[in-house]
Amino acid sequence: MENSLGIIGYDFVEFYVGSAKMWAYWHAKALGFQFSAYCGSETGVKDKVSYYMTKDKIQIVLTSASKPTNYEITSFVERHGDGVKRWSLKVKDVKTAFDIALKNGGIPVRGPKKISNENGYVEEAAIKLYDDAEIVFINRDNYHGIFKPGFGGPLQKIQIKSLDSGLHEIDHIVGNVRVNELKLWENYLNKSLNFETFIEFGEGDISTQYSALLSKVVRSKDGAPVKNPINEPYEGKKKSQIEEYIDEYFGSGIQHIAITTDDIITTIKNLKENGVEFLSPPPDTYYQALKEGKWGITEDIDSLKKYGILCDTEGKGYLLQLFTKSVSDRPTFFYEIIQRRKGAEGFGQGNFQSLFESIERDQQLRGNFDKES
Ligand code: FE2
Repeated sequence: MENSLGIIGYDFVEFYVGSAKMWAYWHAKALGFQFSAYCGSETGVKDKVSYYMTKDKIQIVLTSASKPTNYEITSFVERHGDGVKRWSLKVKDVKTAFDIALKNGGIPVRGPKKISNENGYVEEAAIKLYDDAEIVFINRDNYHGIFKPGFGGPLQKIQIKSLDSGLHEIDHIVGNVRVNELKLWENYLNKSLNFETFIEFGEGDISTQYSALLSKVVRSKDGAPVKNPINEPYEGKKKSQIEEYIDEYFGSGIQHIAITTDDIITTIKNLKENGVEFLSPPPDTYYQALKEGKWGITEDIDSLKKYGILCDTEGKGYLLQLFTKSVSDRPTFFYEIIQRRKGAEGFGQGNFQSLFESIERDQQLRGNFDKES
């Protein structure tokens, strides 16, 4: 079965940040990304700088304004801080995907456009997502240069030493929205992208003693590897991490990107040595329960405990995951490292309570836990 929009999978994710060069160094050193291409004055682009970085199938673009007149970037960073501006879907035909999305309620940002140079052309179009983000439809089949026109070979000649992260591809991209926006964005994605709701967490499903949230996961109907959870705050005694995000990001936007590995124990060990900070681990009783359960977990539980890796079981499968602390200055965007085992399809719902309690401890330190603050 084929999806009507011709969606093949995720393509690149672009961040707007205060200093693209520093973000690029962090991704190279901490997560093992390669400097694959560069766009800036040297390639004829005068008002912004972009680093195109790759790690196996993951493609990210880190972009900063190099002139205050690039208001699209400066205004984004001024309001939201560093964050994800757009994620993209590789499609068979950009115009077809865009036309179907618009017919079904997609809000246009940019119509189909060919960007070309001597190496061929890239075709792109975009629709709106959340307050200030976009979903891009892209096809690069007719381009033979690096990434896109405007990008040239990387300028960095130095080798950045880092332990191999083993990171492989994007598993899912998550958005945080305001109270009463969850249904709106669920319908928007399902209609405009011909997606379906795959998992729902209602009131009482995800909560700690102090806070709660609602969540739904939408995905491509035909098995194309595109999954998008959406979170909304739910009433609780204290401020939930989703409310904190909305306050600190000054709006709705992308909360985290989950990246797969085939060996999470080695990945987390190496990322920690590379300097990546993770959320604090659950109590010892968490791992004792894993040892006592008959879950068929083949990884060494003591190693999972040593690195604070979370494990959630579902049916015959299970998933292993761990969340970084916020990557930049505000408590907004972070990465998730995930390994799916034996066909697990969930998102770690069994871990939500211990995860959120860990985040709440950090919220307390930031003074963002009490509702009055
Ligand atoms: Fe996730």
